[in-house]
Amino acid sequence: MQASFEHKGFTIWFTGLSGAGKSTVSSILEKRLRGLGARVELLDGDEVRTNLSKGLGFSKEDRDTNIRRIGYVCRLLSRNGVIAIAAAISPYRKTRDFVRSGIENFIEVYALCPLEKLMERDVKGLYKKALAGEIKEFTGVSDPYEEPLQPEVVIETDRETPEQSADKVWARLEELGLLSLNGRPALSHR
Ligand code: ADX
Repeated sequence: MQASFEHKGFTIWFTGLSGAGKSTVSSILEKRLRGLGARVELLDGDEVRTNLSKGLGFSKEDRDTNIRRIGYVCRLLSRNGVIAIAAAISPYRKTRDFVRSGIENFIEVYALCPLEKLMERDVKGLYKKALAGEIKEFTGVSDPYEEPLQPEVVIETDRETPEQSADKVWARLEELGLLSLNGRPALSHR
């Protein structure tokens, strides 16, 4: 029998500090889903800021505008049966909740990693600059980050491999009945 993979339209919303693994884990999920033939789009903060949100900065107002725009696109996609994956710091709880309220199937994933670890890793060298005061309003250093209170999934990226984190999200999607293979929860996802 030919395997038939089906999915609903939904949004996976990654939130967390810069460098916490949002992009890495979301692109693993994107690849897995696409490999099964899913209709999927990834909206990554860094990339969105070069087109849809070009010109916006990092004030509260600009961040909120950025997040509302990403949320708007996710809403359009997911209500048309597409899987939208957003990966943006999205530091403000109220704004994330506003986006959630407009999307039927919304899965918030909190990419959690201690700040000390992020500073140690500092892949983009931004924490060093933020600590030196060269970048102002840097999330977690000189700008707020409001943790989600009831995210659907928490990934602990200092203790899990990116693959393990992706597995966690996948398991939750199955639990929520958003994915199925041959009419059953899609367990064979690799
Ligand atoms: S958000 O706050 O509006 O959700 P977004 O995810 O789009 O942020 O962009 C965050 C990325 O912008 C970071 O990963 C980092 O590379 C870069 N960046 C530049 N300046 C800042 C800053 N002041 N605070 C946070 N990230 C910044």
